[in-house]
Amino acid sequence: MKILGIETSCDDTGLAIYDSERGLCGHLLHSQTTTHLPYGGVVPELAARDHIAQVIPLIQQLLEKTGLQASDIDGLAYTAGPGLVGALLVGACIGRSLGMAWSVPTLGVHHMEAHLLAPMLEPRAPSFPFLALLVSGGHTLLVEVKELGQYHLLGESLDDAVGEAFDKTAKLLGLGYPGGPALAKLAEQGDPQHFHLPRPMIDRPGLDFSFSGLKTAVLTLWQELGQNKDQAPHIARAFEEAVVDTLLIKCRRALEQTGLQQLVVAGGVSANLRLRQNLLQLATEHNWQIFFPRHEFCTDNGAMVAYAGCQRLLRGERDGLEIQVKPRWSLADLSS
Ligand code: KG4
Ligand code: ZN
Repeated sequence: MKILGIETSCDDTGLAIYDSERGLCGHLLHSQTTTHLPYGGVVPELAARDHIAQVIPLIQQLLEKTGLQASDIDGLAYTAGPGLVGALLVGACIGRSLGMAWSVPTLGVHHMEAHLLAPMLEPRAPSFPFLALLVSGGHTLLVEVKELGQYHLLGESLDDAVGEAFDKTAKLLGLGYPGGPALAKLAEQGDPQHFHLPRPMIDRPGLDFSFSGLKTAVLTLWQELGQNKDQAPHIARAFEEAVVDTLLIKCRRALEQTGLQQLVVAGGVSANLRLRQNLLQLATEHNWQIFFPRHEFCTDNGAMVAYAGCQRLLRGERDGLEIQVKPRWSLADLSS
C-alpha cells in the first residue's frame, strides 16, 4: 500500500510517499523560514497561503522523483491537528480533494502521533510498548505507548513547551527565528560552569514539566548582565544544560515508574545534540534502549505523516464525509 503524506500543520510543507511493503519511497520539504523571518515568528495567515502555493507542485515533484504515477497511490494521509487552523485546512482540503479525484481513501492523522512513530522509519526501530518523550514547539509530553493508538499521558508541560522555551530564550538573546537550533549552536561556545540556572519542578513528585520559570530566570540574568553579548554563549549553555537535565530526570523517573525498557524521543527538540548525547549516556548506564528519528525527521516532515497514516489506513480507518481539522487535539483522545 503506497500512501502519500501531507504535513502542513505549521511552517513546513512536508510531502512523502510511504510504501507498506518497501518503506519510504521519497520525501520533500519546503521550509517557510524566510517568509516568517522578518516577523520573528510564524504568521499563521502567511503560513496557510504559502502551503497553498507549495503543496501541489511538491506532489508533482515527488511523483517525478520517485518515478511513481498518481495511479500508484493507494491512499492519502494529512495532518488534521493539532496546529494552526488555516495551515491544517490547506493540507486537509488538498488531501481530501485528491482522494476523491484519485478514488482512494484518505485519513487525517494526529501530528504528535506522527512524531512519536517517526523512529519506526529507521532500520533499528522500537517495538511496542515503549515510553515516548515528545518535545516540539507546541508540546512537551511523556507518553506510555502501549500499542498504535493506545496512549497513556504520564506528564506534560504546565506552561511553555520546551521548543517554545528555546525559541523565546533565543529571541531574548537576539538570535531571531527559528531560535532552537541557533541557541544550541551558540551554547557550543559557552562554558557550562559559568552560570547555573534552576532545573524546574525536579524536586516535586510527578512527571509534569514547567519551563516558563526558566525563561524568566534567563530574562533576569540577561538584564542583570546589562544584556552583555559576550555573556550570551554562557547563558545559552546554562539554559540548554538546565533543559536537558530536567528532561533527563523526568525520563528516568518515568522509565523506573513504568518498568519500560525502551525510550523514544521525537519532535523538533529531539534534534538537539546535547539532549541526544546525554539521553544516550543515561540509557547506556541503565541498559535501556533509546530510539530517535534521523535528524531530518525530528522536525516537521511528510514522512512521519505518511507512515502514521499508512498504519491506520491498513487497519481500515477512513475519513468520514466531512472535512474536519482539530487545531487543539489531545493525544490521549486517540485511545479508545
Ligand atoms: O516538531 P517541530 O518541527 O514543530 C512542532 O511540532 O512544533 O518542532 C519545532 C521546535 C522549535 O521550537 C525549534 O526551535 C525546536 O523544535 N528545535 C530545536 C532544535 N531544532 C529544532 N530546539 C533545540 N535544539 C535544536 N537543535
Ligand atoms: Zn511537529
